Amino acid sequence: MTAAAQGHSVLSFDEAAAARRSVRAFRKDPVPRAVLEHIFGLANLAPSNCNTQPWYTVVASGATLERLRVQFPADFGSGKATMDFPYLGKYDGVFKDRQYDAANRLYTAMNIARDDKAARGMAFMRNFTFFDAPHVAFLFMPEWCGIREAADVGMYSQTLMLALSAHGLASCPQTALSMGADLVRSELGVDASHKLIFGVSFGYEDTEHPANACRVPRAALADTTRFVD
Ligand SMILES: Cc1cc2nc3c(=O)[nH]c(=O)nc-3n(C[C@H](O)[C@H](O)[C@H](O)COP(=O)(O)O)c2cc1C
Repeated sequence: MTAAAQGHSVLSFDEAAAARRSVRAFRKDPVPRAVLEHIFGLANLAPSNCNTQPWYTVVASGATLERLRVQFPADFGSGKATMDFPYLGKYDGVFKDRQYDAANRLYTAMNIARDDKAARGMAFMRNFTFFDAPHVAFLFMPEWCGIREAADVGMYSQTLMLALSAHGLASCPQTALSMGADLVRSELGVDASHKLIFGVSFGYEDTEHPANACRVPRAALADTTRFVD
């Protein structure tokens, strides 16, 4: 379907790549099904090792997502988190510096003081209500998959987020959503042979929410990339 047929214009690649960022507050209005199918069709064009296409995506919306929006924080709050993949979350050196800087920028945008643990906890819990998004793409891969297939799913998800961005939609990839693997599988009718790697909440950005004023920088090109002749 052309963008014109969908009633909106599409950003160029450079514009879409620059516009994408993690948005942590969404409007409630759903995205039309035809637009969703077009965007997820674009995501499917992502490359993968030997063209195995190891991603399995379930897009949750409507009553199904509302049930998860209630049960996810309840389960997490009562210690019932289940994860298919371990989360190390321990960074050192420059990686730790970047983690701290990103968190600082988010909490500053939300006017939350560094030592206000309660407010930080509440902000974190918003992960589990999907930042009010009307849709969440839960990304699974078959249990035989390893690190190379996880990279394939990463490529798929970035293609998805750039496609969303190009079509005027916002997203947030969330490792936090892998913390309800059993709940999500049960609610979505997914077999235990598929493992939940993360989720992407998406929809129209709530431009008024303070969290969405957050911008995080990138390292200089010279620090990440070397050109060798
Ligand atoms: C795989 C992945 C998992 C992430 N998990 C979370 C998450 O659970 N919660 C969250 O608020 N942000 C999450 N993020 C967003 C990162 O914090 C964000 O991408 C990073 O700070 C860079 O900011 P930007 O996306 O706005 O450019 C995740 C990003 C990726 C790629």
